Amino acid sequence: MKLKLTADLMFGKNIDETKDFLEGLLAEFNKKMVKEKVGVEKWFINNNTLTLTVTSEGKRRAHEVLLQLRKTLSEQMGKKYRVGVRNIKTKRYEITFEVEKKPLQQIKVPFAEVSIKNRIVKLVLEEIDEEFLRKNYVDRIIKRVKEKIDAQYYEGKKEYWELIWESEQKEPLWDKDPSEEMQKLGWIVLLGKGKWFYRPPAAAIMRAMERIALENIVQPLGFKEVIEPMHVSFETWLRTGHLEGMPGEIYYICEPKSRDPAEWERFIDLVKITKEVPSEELVKNLKPPRDGVVYAQCPNIYASMRGKTIAEEDLPLLLFEHYVPSNRYESGGKHGIERVDEFHRIEIVYIGRKEQLVELRDRLIESYKHVFNNILELEWRMARVTPFYMQQAGIVGSEEEKSKGTIDFEAWLPYRGDRSKEWLEFQNISIVGEKYTKAFNIKGQKSELWSGCSGVGLERWMVSFLAQKGLNPDNWPKGFKKYLPELPEMPKFL
Ligand code: SER
Ligand code: ZN
Repeated sequence: MKLKLTADLMFGKNIDETKDFLEGLLAEFNKKMVKEKVGVEKWFINNNTLTLTVTSEGKRRAHEVLLQLRKTLSEQMGKKYRVGVRNIKTKRYEITFEVEKKPLQQIKVPFAEVSIKNRIVKLVLEEIDEEFLRKNYVDRIIKRVKEKIDAQYYEGKKEYWELIWESEQKEPLWDKDPSEEMQKLGWIVLLGKGKWFYRPPAAAIMRAMERIALENIVQPLGFKEVIEPMHVSFETWLRTGHLEGMPGEIYYICEPKSRDPAEWERFIDLVKITKEVPSEELVKNLKPPRDGVVYAQCPNIYASMRGKTIAEEDLPLLLFEHYVPSNRYESGGKHGIERVDEFHRIEIVYIGRKEQLVELRDRLIESYKHVFNNILELEWRMARVTPFYMQQAGIVGSEEEKSKGTIDFEAWLPYRGDRSKEWLEFQNISIVGEKYTKAFNIKGQKSELWSGCSGVGLERWMVSFLAQKGLNPDNWPKGFKKYLPELPEMPKFL
C-alpha cells in the first residue's frame, strides 16, 4: 500500500522565524522513520501554516504518522517558541493499493474518488478533517472497497445450502393454499401490507403451535422467559450489524418532536378539515428515528446483558422471548401468512461455553425432531445455510467452521407444487460463535463465551402444517389434536 498525505498544520502564531529549527525536527523525524518506510517531504512555511506531505509504503498509515508528528512538533515547538499546532487541514490524501481480484465494475464510496486500473485501486480524498483521521475512517473506506469487490464476484452465485437430514415423504392431505382458504372462511383478515388479523380459529391454531413448542422444547430444556421492548435502538443494531445489513427491511420508529397540542395545531386542523392525514405536516412534527421495531428478538436480549459477566454456575444461560412480534419490510405482491411484515415467534437464546452450546444444539434438534415427526407429522428437512448473522449483517460469501452457523428447517408446501423445489423455511437454529457476546461485551468468569439462538416462527409452523394436513380438524394428527381438541367457532357475520 502506498499512502501520500498533504496537509496544513496551523500553528497558534506566525512561525516564519522557526524555519531552521523545524527543518532540524523534520530531518530527525525522517531519520527515525526510515525503517518504517515513512517520510515527510515537500514542506514549506507560510505565516502560521506548515504545509507538508507524508508518504508511507510501510505498515503505518500516513495519517497516523501525521498525528504523531503533530504531537512531536507541538511538544518541541512549545518548549522553544511557546507555540503549538492548533489545527490540521488535510488537503489531499492518496491511497494506492493492490486487490486480489480485478473489480468487475466501477466502485463508488463516500468521501473518496475511486479509480481502478486492473488490480490497482487508487483513492483520492480531499479536504478531510482531523476527526476523520483520528477515527480511522480511512481504514474503513479501504475495507469497504475490498468488500464491494468481493460482493461483485459473489453476486448471482447461489445461496449456500447443504442438506443434512430429511424425513420420509408423506402424502399430503390436500394441495390448497391454506392462507387463501382461511381468508375465504374469514379465519384471517389482511390489515395492511403483510399484517394479518387472526380470528378465533386461526388464533387458536397459532397458540396451539406455541404450546407445542413451549411444552416439548423450550420448557423441558430449561429455558426461562424474558420480556423485551418492541423498540430496538440503533446503538444495538450498530453492534449486531443490522444497520449495515438490513437497513431496507427495518420498520423505523419516529418520536414526536413535542407532546404540546399547540405544536400539533396545524396538523389537527388539517385532519379535521380534510379527513385525511397531511403527511408533510406530520413529518415536520417528527424527530428522525433512533430506533426500529424488533426485527429478531435476540439483539435486545444481548443488549440487556451488555457489559455483564455471567457466573460460571449459570452457564449455559438459557432464555426465551415470545411476547414481541417481529417486523420486516417485505417486498410487495400477494403473499399469505408464509411471508408477512409482522410475525410471531418464540426466540430462544443460549450463552455458554462452546462445547455446552454444541451439545445443546443436538438436544434442541432432537426435541424439534420429536415435534415435527410425532406431533405435527410433517414432511420436512434440515439444511446448513448461510448463517443468519452474516446475512443480516450484509456479509457475503465467507464460510464458517462446522460448530458455528445456521441450520434451516424446511417443510414442503404441496400447494406450490414441485416436491423437489417448493420448500419453506419454517424455523432455524444457530450458533453465532463469539460475534454477539463480543459485540456486547458479555463475559464468563473463566471461560470465553459463545452464543446462539433459534427462532420458532409460529406463522411458518402453522402454514407448513396446514399446507400438508388441510383445514379440517378431523384429518389432523392425533398428537396435534391433543393440543387443540376443538376449534373455536367463527362469529357469524350477516
Ligand atoms: N435471530 C435469528 C434470525 O433472525 C433467529 O431467530 O433468524
Ligand atoms: Zn436470533
